Amino acid sequence: MRYSRAQIVYHWLTVAVLAFMVLSGLAYNYDWIDTGSIRFHQLLGQIFIVLLAARLITRLIYPVTPDHADHTAFEVIAARIVHGGLYLCMIAYVFTGYIAASGLRDPMLLAPVNQAFARSDAGEWLLEAHFTLKWILLALFTLHFAGALKHLLWQQNKPISNMTPTFRKE
Ligand code: HEM
Ligand code: HEM
Repeated sequence: MRYSRAQIVYHWLTVAVLAFMVLSGLAYNYDWIDTGSIRFHQLLGQIFIVLLAARLITRLIYPVTPDHADHTAFEVIAARIVHGGLYLCMIAYVFTGYIAASGLRDPMLLAPVNQAFARSDAGEWLLEAHFTLKWILLALFTLHFAGALKHLLWQQNKPISNMTPTFRKE
């Protein structure tokens, strides 16, 4: 059994949008592009919030995942921890990012939170957390990608095909 078509679409849409979020965030922070990157980051960020919410709701309503009967117990537990970590990382990103953006002089948000809060010590802490998350995301992504690659290259069972589109009837 594979992931549902909706879960596959959400997975790859999330990966694509996340890549642009990382690039636009870094472009702003390290001045790669003069203007526009933080506006783009906030606009795409709000689309990402909707996308992530839809993905999480789909996941909760249809919690069907491949059974991985041919994996060791260690692999199953490790994958669960990494998947859970990736979901938490994405949730933490949107939460801290939204508050960070509310503290900007000219936020481009539909409903910014209170600016005094966003600029308070707690808000500054959340901004720091937004910055730190890239290292956590990098670590989790490396494990996730390495796991997928290991199975693809060295083992007969190929969980990567659980997450690739197919036009075959199951
Ligand atoms: C998965 C989602 C997100 C990712 C991967 C992401 C990534 C980043 C990165 C890499 C930076 C540059 C800072 C650094 O070096 O770490 C950044 C900055 C920033 N992000 Fe995000 N972000 C995400 C979501 C959001 C959202 C939803 C918002 C608000 C709508 C947001 C608002 C901001 C703001 C305002 C900054 C600049 C903060 C400052 O320097 O004052 N981010 N983000
Ligand atoms: C090119 C990079 C990527 C590849 C090749 C890839 C591949 C996969 C594969 C094959 C699975 C299914 C694993 C299984 O059957 O147990 C999966 C699941 C998952 N991936 Fe990725 N992935 C990539 C990037 C990402 C990124 C960037 C994120 C999020 C930040 C992510 C988040 C997840 C999550 C949360 C699941 C678990 C889905 C669930 O059970 O609800 N992936 N990925």
